[in-house]
Amino acid sequence: MKKIKKAVIPAAGLGTRVLPATKAMPKEMLTIVDKPAIQYIVEEAVNSGIKDICIILSRGKSIVEDHFDRSPELEIKLKNSGKDKALDEILGIANLANITYVRQQEPKGLGHAISCAKAFVGDDDFAVLYGDDVILGDYPCCRQLVDQYEKYGLGCVCMKEVPFEQVTRYSSLKVDLLENNVYKVSDMIEKPATKELAFSNFSILGRCVLPNEIFDILDKIPKGAGGEYQLTDAMKILAQTKGMIGVDFVGTRYDMGNKLGIMQAAVETAIKHNEIGEDFKAYLKEFVKTLD
Ligand code: UTP
Repeated sequence: MKKIKKAVIPAAGLGTRVLPATKAMPKEMLTIVDKPAIQYIVEEAVNSGIKDICIILSRGKSIVEDHFDRSPELEIKLKNSGKDKALDEILGIANLANITYVRQQEPKGLGHAISCAKAFVGDDDFAVLYGDDVILGDYPCCRQLVDQYEKYGLGCVCMKEVPFEQVTRYSSLKVDLLENNVYKVSDMIEKPATKELAFSNFSILGRCVLPNEIFDILDKIPKGAGGEYQLTDAMKILAQTKGMIGVDFVGTRYDMGNKLGIMQAAVETAIKHNEIGEDFKAYLKEFVKTLD
């Protein structure tokens, strides 16, 4: 079995659910306290043993490239003013991973975004980390998938149960328990029209490991839900033919693609932050008393 050495981070979507913040600012660059969402995601890939990363961008998102690039003026300024800790941190971001950027010229959907990474991926199997899904925890979520891919030799998806009433907003998976938090996935549907059409309330959230044949499937699928090329429609064919593995992952997920998720990420990260954590917690305790 080949090791997973490459990851694709799709970050070319329009982020319409977070307007007006995302009119000029990519949602993937929205900060959780002091770090943009996409940096947490690149760090997760690196902590999962993956250093070759392709970020899919679109017009107006080159600020993402600047974030992971060297910044000579800033570095000189920090060096001359003795701010060594900040300097190390800035240099660390530029040296985090080997990052390649590819443009998706039109936002035709997540499936189309992944097919833009075909040349980067070559003949390998690879991980996908959605650019607006931050998942925090001691056991990196992407690593949890890679471990199951290495064990079962099948494509893997991260999943969680969502409230049944909301399943029409997500994907829905047909699953059978294999062991602990690991399931066999034999079918799936993207945004079922009614909850009666759902297989279960297990939904794919934010991460997958895909075999290379996904590119041939992506070339053939028609447009799906929302008039977009859906990655789920391609993975459905994989699940029905070879089967996939679903991992009910351990970790805390923040959906940076919606306003509530962004605020939950900010508050929960701020109370644990090494610089402002104690002060923020004290402020929050007082503030909560003023709420009815
Ligand atoms: P989403 O569907 O959440 O992103 O895709 P979106 O299209 O930006 O969302 P809204 O509905 O307009 O708010 C999940 C991930 O896939 C990327 C997004 O950037 C996000 O990180 N994506 C989505 C692409 O790269 N290209 C696309 O065409 C669509």
